[in-house]
Amino acid sequence: MTILIKGGTVVGPSGPYAGDVLVDGETIAAIFAPGRGPEGPEVIDATGKYVIPGAIDAHTHMQMPFGGTEASDTFDTGTRAAAIGGTTTIIDFAIQRYGEVVQDGLAAWHAKTAGECHIDYGFHMIVGGVDDESLKAMDQLVATEGISSFKLFMAYPGVFYSDDGQILRAMQKARENGAMIMMHAENGPAIDVLVKQALERGETDPIYHGITRPQELEAEATSRAIWLASVAADCPLYIVHLSASKALEQVRNARDLGRNVFAETCPQYLYLTLEDQLGAPGFDGAKWVCSTPLRSGKESHRADLWQGLRTNDLSVVSTDHCPFCMKDQKEMGIGDFSKIPNGIGSVEHRVDLLYQGVVDKKLSLARWVETIATTPARMFGMYPKKGIIAPGSDADIVLYDPNGRTRISVETHHMNMDYSAWEGWEIDGKVDTVLSRGEVLVSGGEYRGRKGRGRYVSRSLSDYLV
Ligand code: URP
Ligand code: ZN
Ligand code: ZN
Ligand code: ZN
Repeated sequence: MTILIKGGTVVGPSGPYAGDVLVDGETIAAIFAPGRGPEGPEVIDATGKYVIPGAIDAHTHMQMPFGGTEASDTFDTGTRAAAIGGTTTIIDFAIQRYGEVVQDGLAAWHAKTAGECHIDYGFHMIVGGVDDESLKAMDQLVATEGISSFKLFMAYPGVFYSDDGQILRAMQKARENGAMIMMHAENGPAIDVLVKQALERGETDPIYHGITRPQELEAEATSRAIWLASVAADCPLYIVHLSASKALEQVRNARDLGRNVFAETCPQYLYLTLEDQLGAPGFDGAKWVCSTPLRSGKESHRADLWQGLRTNDLSVVSTDHCPFCMKDQKEMGIGDFSKIPNGIGSVEHRVDLLYQGVVDKKLSLARWVETIATTPARMFGMYPKKGIIAPGSDADIVLYDPNGRTRISVETHHMNMDYSAWEGWEIDGKVDTVLSRGEVLVSGGEYRGRKGRGRYVSRSLSDYLV
């Protein structure tokens, strides 16, 4: 089966150009100057559209167990919503809890995904108990399981938390086997003190989730992680869900010294605030409880993060998609913000939300594509199979309509959530057509994919290893 995507503007890492893309089976066969492609294949008319690589969301948590409940999107509902929003690959987090065997955690995630995913997927591994056994397991996962990145937590004592000695050991191991260490950089023990003190004062509303996680404790943990990585012979370090100016400053300083340090941010930190969302009346702020938290709109966080995307001190935009419904889930924290399950769901909207950066002239078209597709592919060992429109690459392709409009609402989204964190947002741009390995999943607003077609992506080491 061959398809010619004709008349569009292909957006590559070095900028936009006019080109016709020939898809043969699951891969891209060739790119032709406009009108020079073969006769015969089925034609998809891309006139007036951007032709971009299928987006890659390198940070999702489908059906993740958290705080006595489970993230509300399954791999079925979550990957379908992702596809509709132009994302054709996710990297989810398999979990080893303290006391469990790493390989058992990985097997559990393979079992959850088997036959369920609409798009391709890989795994990072959360190591919740760094010890001799799990360090050995890290080698095995890199060598034989296609897992080249491990997430550690400086937050959540008693759940996923690693102390500095454990972090150092895991970093030394990663330096040896070539893996990337991903860090949830917040000082968990200090946060727990502030949470306890706030609750004792009767400060129980959702906004106190943010107030008890001040940016200093994100910056301190970010800085500590950077120094520990330095001690581990400059182990590659990737700070996840960076939200705050002072944390960004730590990353920027390290990068300016040529250090092997990278960071991602998420749409919620680029647009939403502690006051407007987390501080919404009544219990409504619970919709936006996530960690790291939304930051104050009175400070320069959002502008600084946009700038970080331009300077490449922030290399990737992921969602940290971890949805919980208000009913029965977020509501567990009525009267005690610390019991609100942490997470926001945006897997369907990242491509559109970041396109606003182009509309607002904060990002070039090439940078938009780089942050949502090309760099995540390179950062996490999937390039050039994923993340670029090029001969030989998987035919994961999105036709994006810059003249379309997208209205976000719980009434129309496809994620399994009973609210939208972006309710009523009307934005420029619209996902028009989505192909995953040559199969048309979305066409003319209609979904034609099916669960079970998505394949596990066995990942190589990061392109960014030095
Ligand atoms: O609030 C969040 N981010 N929930 C998901 C777990 C994590 O720390 O990424
Ligand atoms: Zn995290
Ligand atoms: Zn710089
Ligand atoms: Zn996360």
